[in-house]
Amino acid sequence: MITIQQLNALPAALKNLPSPRVLVPTMGALHEGHLTLVKRAREIAGPDGTVILTLFVNPTQFNKPEDLKNYPRTEERDLALSKIHGVDLVFAPEAGSMYREDSSVTVTENALATRLCGATRPGHFDGVCTVVLKLLNLTQPDAAVFGKKDYQQLAVIRRMVRDLNVPVQIEGVETVREPSGLAMSSRNTRLTAAHLSDAPRIRRALLAAQSACKTGETSVKTLSTIAKKEIENSESGAEIDYLELLDAKSLSPIESVTAPAVLATAVFYGDVRLIDNIELLTI
Ligand code: PAJ
Repeated sequence: MITIQQLNALPAALKNLPSPRVLVPTMGALHEGHLTLVKRAREIAGPDGTVILTLFVNPTQFNKPEDLKNYPRTEERDLALSKIHGVDLVFAPEAGSMYREDSSVTVTENALATRLCGATRPGHFDGVCTVVLKLLNLTQPDAAVFGKKDYQQLAVIRRMVRDLNVPVQIEGVETVREPSGLAMSSRNTRLTAAHLSDAPRIRRALLAAQSACKTGETSVKTLSTIAKKEIENSESGAEIDYLELLDAKSLSPIESVTAPAVLATAVFYGDVRLIDNIELLTI
């Protein structure tokens, strides 16, 4: 286990690595989505810069102990994949090294984090903001790469970096999908066969709403109903945690789509919770 002394020596040591240094924070169980972030990180870093990947299943962002316990962990494979994909440095601390027993400072974003996953997973974004700020402080990157699959997370992190003057460029990467349209997720490995064949409905639902919006439907109620119907028309039992259409920038509720908006959803298939989103533009 890395000691507090070693941890505290990390920023100074990593500052000596060739810049630009680009960070890809992950919780491991790497898939093609994560590896696409690594690819983007390499593009930003260039051949001589440094790509840093973190593997850390952050306990403070899990609001349910079972979810933390069941989160897939494939560290050996993750290290091998990181190597193959040209990551220069992997930082994989244990929870005990990252958080002191009497740790008492938390970062809270108070606007964007209040809805969607923030409303249904209390404390989740405090955990995310706090760990991401710690990882940025520890690894001292010039840029950090995040996926748009976690649309709200990306917005919250951009806001944190803006409001706390963190000297890092935040880069967003499009969602990587299975051929079925299902957004890649470490949690997909926990789906049963029946749920796996049902879950692409999420993407179809979001696309159906987007296409209705493209042909002139602006009512949030109607668009949400279109999407909900597709998800609920499930053979294996899907339970919508939330499905909301919000202003794309402020993530606040709207009644009709008159400016860029985002339709975001979280759906339970058994105890596996999947999220996805789609941007809707006015015509
Ligand atoms: P994790 O779920 O492992 O995701 C790590 C990064 O990969 C996030 O930026 C996420 O948006 C991105 N990602 C996941 N699936 C993706 C996909 N299908 N396409 C594109 N990008 C994808 O998000 C977290 O970990 C944690 O909250 C973290 C930021 C590491 C803080 O603990």
